[in-house]
Amino acid sequence: MSARIYISRDSGALCVGAEEVATAFRKGAEKRGLDLEIVRTGSRGLYWLEPLVEVATPQGRVGFGPVKPADVEGLLDESEKHHLCLGLVEDIPWLKNQTRLTFKNCGIIDPRSLEDYKAHGGYQGLAKALEIGPKATVEEVVTSGLRGRGGAGFPTGIKWRTVADTPPQQKYIVCNADEGDSGTFADRMIMEGDPFVLIEGMTIAGIAVGATYGYVYIRSEYPDAIEAMEIAIREARKGGMLGKKIAGSQYDFDMEVRAGAGAYVCGEETSLLESLEGKRGEVRAKPPLPAHIGLFGKPTVINNVLSLATVPIIMAKGGTFYRDFGMGKSRGTMPIQLAGNIKHGGLYETAFGITLGTLVDEIGGGTRSGRPVRAVQVGGPLGAYFPRELFDTPFDYEAFTAADGLIGHGGIVVFDDTVDMAKQARFAMEFCAIESCGKCTPCRIGSARGVELVDKIVAGEDPAENLLVLEDLCNTMKFGSLCALGGFTPYPVMSALTHFPEDFGAKRKRLEAAE
Ligand SMILES: Cc1cc2nc3c(=O)[nH]c(=O)nc-3n(C[C@H](O)[C@H](O)[C@H](O)COP(=O)(O)O)c2cc1C
Ligand code: SF4
Repeated sequence: MSARIYISRDSGALCVGAEEVATAFRKGAEKRGLDLEIVRTGSRGLYWLEPLVEVATPQGRVGFGPVKPADVEGLLDESEKHHLCLGLVEDIPWLKNQTRLTFKNCGIIDPRSLEDYKAHGGYQGLAKALEIGPKATVEEVVTSGLRGRGGAGFPTGIKWRTVADTPPQQKYIVCNADEGDSGTFADRMIMEGDPFVLIEGMTIAGIAVGATYGYVYIRSEYPDAIEAMEIAIREARKGGMLGKKIAGSQYDFDMEVRAGAGAYVCGEETSLLESLEGKRGEVRAKPPLPAHIGLFGKPTVINNVLSLATVPIIMAKGGTFYRDFGMGKSRGTMPIQLAGNIKHGGLYETAFGITLGTLVDEIGGGTRSGRPVRAVQVGGPLGAYFPRELFDTPFDYEAFTAADGLIGHGGIVVFDDTVDMAKQARFAMEFCAIESCGKCTPCRIGSARGVELVDKIVAGEDPAENLLVLEDLCNTMKFGSLCALGGFTPYPVMSALTHFPEDFGAKRKRLEAAE
């Protein structure tokens, strides 16, 4: 008798015992003389169900989870009648209600197999790019309306066009996989679960702008992602999809992985370039833009993992197909990451326009602690805290800006009613002080003064006056900092003050001060 099962090798699944579960299945099958094929995949992103085991059946994959090694004997005996049976994985509402474009193959394919990637539609985007040529490829990405998923939301196609328009010379594609935002893991999931889609995206970018070499700068805290990317790059090279004359075309493109230097600011694009060049990760003044003078002084496309990994489906299905999802100027889908104190945490890819409340209450199922949700921080450590009153805000770049917040890399961190928002505001300033590259005064000095001010306000030391000073300091940081680390730290601080003044013991005093 033979059977095939799928178990994730994603580091989120490994953390909760996926390796031990796979070993238990191997041993159990040996004991029974069962011919069991265990395919190691990425994660589907339903993290509360990991380790998720999927069994191939004629109807589709049937899921079981969360599985512990002790469950394996029982599963081998009674399978579909087992109490951990979730039915067909594709029919689990949490998954079924998503629109998976960037993540279409994640959790499904074997991330180490180029053949499997191709069997699931891989490299159709590259074929299209080769057919229509570099100029039309850039325009297809412009048409799609894709905006950078790293945080700033800059149109990807416009960035590519700028690099393509520079005179022919050595150019580079740099993938920003530093993923430092709190509550985010989408880049890691793609690299571990579908690395070829990133390789394909970078290859298409290279052809489009005339670059022949690429670097993936992966945070050093992601050893599994580094390994997965390195294996996939070797496989792609072996299969003729990297190196000279890729896929038999006239184009050359190759790439390598570089491990990050372990600082949040190394995710800032110019600091990342400094780090890639072997220097200390310090922010460069702009202009010049990296598109003109980037890595080693050459024109460089620098894009987030998700931006590049979305390009293959845009090319395969067309820019207008992608553009048809979303709202306003936020086109396509966003891989949203639900984290923190949340019942159903994981990766939820959906078209822009869904409200924050739907994401937190309905999809996330509220808090894991069972207590009421009090605040959510969206967009990483530089993102604003949203109170329940703003839960009707749609996931859209402009709507978040209008609410004094940001989407950033799509991370949502949930807090229940035990959170102390004054502590969170202090933490934002402290984080900035620790992570500041030190190049500009508002951030380097301002963040240290910010910590002191929050401490004084909470201690009841001239709160009205210190609140005004804190607001003034936030404005100086916002408008006077060289990069968004200092420039956006005021967002979590001011949102905590605005929406949760009671935690600063200062509501009345604030009003008094304003009078
Ligand atoms: C302090 C700081 C940290 C950042 N960290 C990241 C990061 O980890 N990953 C990322 O893609 N972009 C990060 N960014 C944004 C990058 O500077 C840049 O906008 C992005 O890599 C461009 O790619 P995109 O257009 O595809 O988003 C960060 C920015 C700042 C100011
Ligand atoms: S804002 Fe902070 S991190 Fe950015 S350049 Fe200035 S000192 Fe460096």
